[in-house]
Amino acid sequence: MFKMVNPLRIRFVIGILFAAVMAMAETQPAPTVEKPFFEPNLKSPTKVVHPYYKMAKEKKDCTSCHTEKDGKSGTLKMEMPNLCYQCHEAKDTKKFIHGPVGAGACTTCHEPHESDNVKLLRYSNMNQLCTSCHADKGHFLKNTKYIHPPVQAQCISCHDAHTENFKFQLKADAKMDLCLMCHADKKGYLATVTHKHGAMDRPRKCLECHNPHGTDTPKFLIKDNSKDLCLSCHNDKMAAEGSKLINISQQLKDNPDHHGPILWGDCVACHNSHGSDNLRMLKKPFPDTFYSKFDQKNYICFECHEPGKILDEITKTATNFRNGEKNMHFVHVNKDKGRTCRACHDFHGTKEYPHHLRKTTVFGAINFPIRYIETPTGGSCAPACHARRGYDREKPVENLK
Ligand code: HEC
Ligand code: HEC
Ligand code: HEC
Ligand code: HEC
Ligand code: HEC
Ligand code: HEC
Ligand code: HEC
Ligand code: HEC
Ligand code: HEC
Ligand code: HEC
Ligand code: HEC
Repeated sequence: MFKMVNPLRIRFVIGILFAAVMAMAETQPAPTVEKPFFEPNLKSPTKVVHPYYKMAKEKKDCTSCHTEKDGKSGTLKMEMPNLCYQCHEAKDTKKFIHGPVGAGACTTCHEPHESDNVKLLRYSNMNQLCTSCHADKGHFLKNTKYIHPPVQAQCISCHDAHTENFKFQLKADAKMDLCLMCHADKKGYLATVTHKHGAMDRPRKCLECHNPHGTDTPKFLIKDNSKDLCLSCHNDKMAAEGSKLINISQQLKDNPDHHGPILWGDCVACHNSHGSDNLRMLKKPFPDTFYSKFDQKNYICFECHEPGKILDEITKTATNFRNGEKNMHFVHVNKDKGRTCRACHDFHGTKEYPHHLRKTTVFGAINFPIRYIETPTGGSCAPACHARRGYDREKPVENLK
């Protein structure tokens, strides 16, 4: 359609565009993040001369592109980009065409005659070329804390400068295929992992959580921390969509004594974000039943907590859950038919009792209240498992059998 338009007019429009962009660039605030930026990467060791310009100069005949033999007036013999397409493959043949290419403005990026840079480009740095018009992206590169390495290197790792079949002239579908082009390890992982995260099947796939260019959060997350990210889906909205998972957002509101990592905003301290072979996408195993034969390797908890709390049968220090020196964690957990931590603790948040003790234990379909009472030197509880029994670190309690 550009062929219908007067090429002089197009050049005028592009000129205005340039002027506007340069004005925008000048009003950008000073960079706040120091980092290597705009390393030259396109400079050619020798001057690049368009072969027909070289030839024209030698033959003193510039009419392969101009109307005049001496080319002085600069008048082109044909409108752009048809002039270039006489010899070059058309650059506007795919579904999505870059703005200036569609407008025939080849010379906004290429020098028509000669240049110090490869491919006759006007800039010695690819990102400088792109941000000469996309000033907002220049601002982004200077002011964003975590930038995706290929974005810092060169925009055309993902975008074609001319034309492509994917939106934004991307080299593959943005939502996942593009990412897997480079992150090939993730492809195999997602195909074989036992519990793939349901988020991967959401419409924007990888882009549900990551910004492809970068953000102020490590790993280019679109929220300030993993907790805000996770809760953006694991909230009422998800329940409304028929998920059988509990509404974590609501659970945390109702149970304000949050477990350490959640206080730091770090759900991925325990969970993998893409999927895992463990229960509930945990980074390390955790038993999925009420009873389980104790094995230290099966408990993600020991990534942060001392295993002595379960391993040491007699202790004065490993845990406060002891009757005198008798470790009550050992008694309950460390055996063939040991209780898993979930019998007594919750992992996200609690309210009624200290030490992340849950209000009700999870035993089959029935949830018994544990009726915990804390004392300065111990405590007691009366779940359905047994009548009220106590422990005391200083004066061991004699419990009835
Ligand atoms: C491969 C095609 C090509 C050849 C060969 C070529 N030119 Fe050009 N020239 C162009 C294009 C395209 C422009 C328009 C640039 C623009 O407007 O962005 C241009 C612009 C010009 C201008 C206008 C000022 C400028 O630099 O933008 C002059 C003068 C000029 N050419 C001189 C010459 C002379 C002299 C020769 C031969 C020695 C020659 N050109 C050969 C493509 C060519
Ligand atoms: C009369 C034929 C002809 C015309 C017209 C022409 N070119 Fe070329 N161009 C060539 C040839 C031949 C080469 C060298 C072979 C190649 O790299 O494809 C070349 C090379 C190039 C290169 C690559 C330089 C490099 O370092 O690899 C660019 C970029 C280019 N031309 C841009 C243009 C643009 C933009 C126009 C229109 C303003 C244009 N050409 C018009 C024939 C032409
Ligand atoms: C937005 C900047 C930009 C515009 C506009 C642009 N190009 Fe390019 N062009 C590039 C970049 C960057 C490269 C080198 C990287 C690559 O090959 O993709 C390139 C490479 C080329 C090459 C050499 C490699 C190849 O693909 O054959 C030619 C020829 C070329 N462009 C012609 C054109 C023509 C003709 C136009 C106008 C229709 C045009 N370009 C418009 C940025 C641009
Ligand atoms: C001469 C100015 C100019 C240069 C240089 C330029 N662009 Fe563009 N770009 C445009 C214009 C104009 C549009 C169309 C804007 C629109 O449709 O809103 C555009 C659109 C885009 C889009 C699609 C955006 C959208 O919202 O649809 C992408 C992606 C893009 N450019 C990437 C690049 C990359 C990568 C480079 C460097 C290789 C680059 N641009 C260099 C002017 C430029
Ligand atoms: C790792 C691949 C990748 C690289 C490298 C990359 N982009 Fe993008 N870009 C994308 C994806 C994916 C989208 C689509 C985002 C979406 O759909 O929300 C996009 C969208 C865009 C858009 C349109 C939407 C917007 O954000 O304005 C522009 C313009 C753009 N990119 C410019 C650039 C520029 C300039 C660079 C270099 C500084 C660059 N991109 C480097 C992947 C990339
Ligand atoms: C052109 C290749 C390329 C494409 C396409 C690409 N990446 Fe990357 N990505 C890299 C490179 C290189 C690194 C840095 C090396 C590394 O950590 O693996 C990286 C790093 C990352 C990191 C940070 C890794 C870390 O440990 O800090 C994340 C997150 C990421 N990419 C996500 C994505 C997403 C999401 C997409 C798709 C929108 C994508 N990437 C597309 C090349 C690519
Ligand atoms: C539910 C949100 C979410 C989705 C969807 C998602 N990621 Fe991530 N991704 C994260 C989080 C959170 C981290 C940081 C994990 C950490 O620090 O343990 C991460 C880390 C990464 C990393 C760096 C660490 C690693 O695992 O290699 C890469 C690369 C990455 N993601 C790529 C992708 C790709 C590719 C996709 C799409 C196939 C994708 N992500 C989809 C949330 C997500
Ligand atoms: C884009 C939305 C989205 C985001 C963001 C998200 N999730 Fe999910 N998550 C889902 C969906 C959808 C499911 C599957 C729901 C179902 O099966 O009912 C799921 C399932 C889960 C499951 C259960 C997995 C299983 O195999 O049982 C866990 C655990 C989980 N997500 C944790 C997280 C964590 C941790 C984060 C933050 C890193 C997070 N989610 C971020 C959408 C999301
Ligand atoms: C200290 C480790 C840990 C942290 C931190 C953690 N989780 Fe969990 N999460 C678990 C464990 C263990 C389970 C399995 C609970 C069970 O089956 O009894 C679980 C289960 C889940 C489930 C499945 C719930 C269901 O319906 O059964 C979701 C969803 C979930 N977590 C999301 C999150 C989110 C979101 C965050 C951050 C706000 C988070 N988790 C932080 C350990 C953790
Ligand atoms: C039978 C119930 C029960 C089970 C099962 C249980 N705990 Fe406890 N845990 C307690 C009680 C009661 C306390 C509070 C002790 C006090 O301070 O008086 C406690 C305290 C803790 C503490 C705080 C520090 C300490 O040891 O005093 C941690 C950490 C802890 N438990 C981790 C675990 C882990 C990990 C598991 C699973 C491997 C587990 N617990 C299983 C009842 C239990
Ligand atoms: C990523 C590190 C991390 C992991 C993994 C972890 N915790 Fe914790 N846990 C903490 C931190 C930090 C605290 C202290 C802040 C608090 O009270 O929540 C804590 C506190 C506790 C407390 C309460 C201590 C007290 O005296 O009040 C219990 C009980 C507990 N964790 C149980 C568990 C269980 C059970 C698991 C395994 C499912 C687990 N934790 C996994 C970091 C972790």
